[in-house]
Amino acid sequence: MCGIIARVGDGNATETLLSGLENLEYRGYDSAGIAVQNGSGVKVHKCSGDVSDLESTLDSRPSGNVGIGHTRWSTHGPPTDENAHPHTDTAGDVAVVHNGVIDNYDQLRTELQANGHVFESDTDTEVIPHLIDEYRETTGDTEQAVRRAVDTLEGSYAIAAIVDGEERIYAARKGSPLVLGVDDEEWFLASDVPAFLEYTDEVIYLEDGDLVVLEPDSYRLTDLEGNPIDRSVDTVDWDPKDAGKGEYDHYMKKEIHSQPTALSNTIEGRIDDGDVDFADLPPGAFADVESVQLVACGTSYHAAMYGGQLLRAAGIPATALRASEYESVAGPVDENTLVVAVTQSGETADTLEAVRTGSARGGRTLAVTNVVGSTAARETDEAIYIRAGPEVGVAATKTYSSQVVTLALLSQRIAADVPDATPADDRAAMLDALADLPRHVETVLETSRAETLAAETLESEAYVFVGNGFGHSVALEGALKFKEITYEHAEGFASGQLKHGPLALVTEETPLFAVCTGGDDEKTKTNAIEARSRGAPVVAVGPDDHPLCDVADAHLSVPETHPVWAGLLANVQLQLLSYYAAKLLERPIDKPRNLAKSVTVE
Ligand code: M6R
Repeated sequence: MCGIIARVGDGNATETLLSGLENLEYRGYDSAGIAVQNGSGVKVHKCSGDVSDLESTLDSRPSGNVGIGHTRWSTHGPPTDENAHPHTDTAGDVAVVHNGVIDNYDQLRTELQANGHVFESDTDTEVIPHLIDEYRETTGDTEQAVRRAVDTLEGSYAIAAIVDGEERIYAARKGSPLVLGVDDEEWFLASDVPAFLEYTDEVIYLEDGDLVVLEPDSYRLTDLEGNPIDRSVDTVDWDPKDAGKGEYDHYMKKEIHSQPTALSNTIEGRIDDGDVDFADLPPGAFADVESVQLVACGTSYHAAMYGGQLLRAAGIPATALRASEYESVAGPVDENTLVVAVTQSGETADTLEAVRTGSARGGRTLAVTNVVGSTAARETDEAIYIRAGPEVGVAATKTYSSQVVTLALLSQRIAADVPDATPADDRAAMLDALADLPRHVETVLETSRAETLAAETLESEAYVFVGNGFGHSVALEGALKFKEITYEHAEGFASGQLKHGPLALVTEETPLFAVCTGGDDEKTKTNAIEARSRGAPVVAVGPDDHPLCDVADAHLSVPETHPVWAGLLANVQLQLLSYYAAKLLERPIDKPRNLAKSVTVE
């Protein structure tokens, strides 16, 4: 939630701030702003709307070599001009951008107002510049003032501040991501790497309690007591072109189409002589595992369902749990319980909270994530990266596919390690078929009829998705994607559950998408027959020549493959269906209303 960027170096900061904000818009897009410092005061430009709205308010590029920027997803206060970041102190000498939530802002605001500070917004953030100003008065030193200010804050924050007359950026983090970009001639700070990837791939992932001061020719990292700290510089292996839309109208379409490459990267080097090999987790690494809990939200939860099913098939007790419910549904956890956080961003608050709870209860923790250096990767005992490359569209697409494949590989690694487990009889066939998966996704992308079907079903009242086994999680994911970007009513069900209530929804106006994988699809076929007899158009989503095609009105075809991968391919068809329906409905596909890509509040 919210994206922040800061930059110091030679030359004007404004272009870098604006392009960085565009690359961070997936984190929020209801208001945007920048502040620059050029020796003649701190200049703030901000407005409600997205970064392009901000750009249109700028007659010329404000000049200044030190600057901060923000794109907002509202928590405290509606998306108005006043509530947009940066926020300043009363005199406008200190400007701050913030990602996170300040829990004690009410009390701080009252105290600061009593001391004469004048507030202009409804936000929790605005207390921060006022606090810095207050402590500058008392300490006479900005760095100390920032240190005291963050020490006073309760809650979560990644902040960056600039101060009139100082060629510096002050920044700190606790509970919200912040990464430092290191280049020969300039320094960057941002919520995520794509914000500055076109300038540098050398990064330092800041940790909670870090405070950094950036100057044009140096940076200093300290803890909150002021003791110097050392952090390693990592090189990010993302390609700068991954951060842009390229030839596509939308990030979502680009990301759907980049799945063959993403999947090749996910698989690369991980299958060795018919066995799964995760370099840092060698054979035997999971020998003590007695049960697995996969915790996740949204699309990642649907990928976790897929992984859970594969683990159970291998004889390992495994459950996919919605991270937000973990506290009440987790049940017993001990040192033989592997708690796996499945999270693209590695920053989802509910997922982090669940895995922390699992760890506090004695479980061993593992992150399956896309973002190197993310909070999930750092806080868990081990991490496996899904290697999908940056995903910018709010709707998760390529990261779902890479998560499913990573979890499938993980399930076979664990099954091989655990003495009583029974790795899939046909594991070799499944892993062989995996090698062909990128090519099969390519075929789906080249031959899909999803665009035509989206047009044919566009006037429907609601959209129903059903499936059994792997098909169930795909049906849930298909419905989530559809509602998320089209704003149409869509629901996913386990095939066996349709007649227990949801069938009442089915009419001639509700197309039913029946996901078939070539596994146990009998119940799904029954659903299709039941729905069709009530006049609903039925679309089979699965392999050609599948018996379900005989009772369907239309077919979204997936190439013949192992049943484990057929669900993933069916999901690609459903991604395309959602995309084209949303496009025809002229929805803001990459930035659906009310949503943000990275949900860092509980
Ligand atoms: O970053 P995460 O994988 O933890 O995010 C979890 C969900 O917020 C996310 O998958 C969300 O459901 C997607 N926007 C759906 O497309």
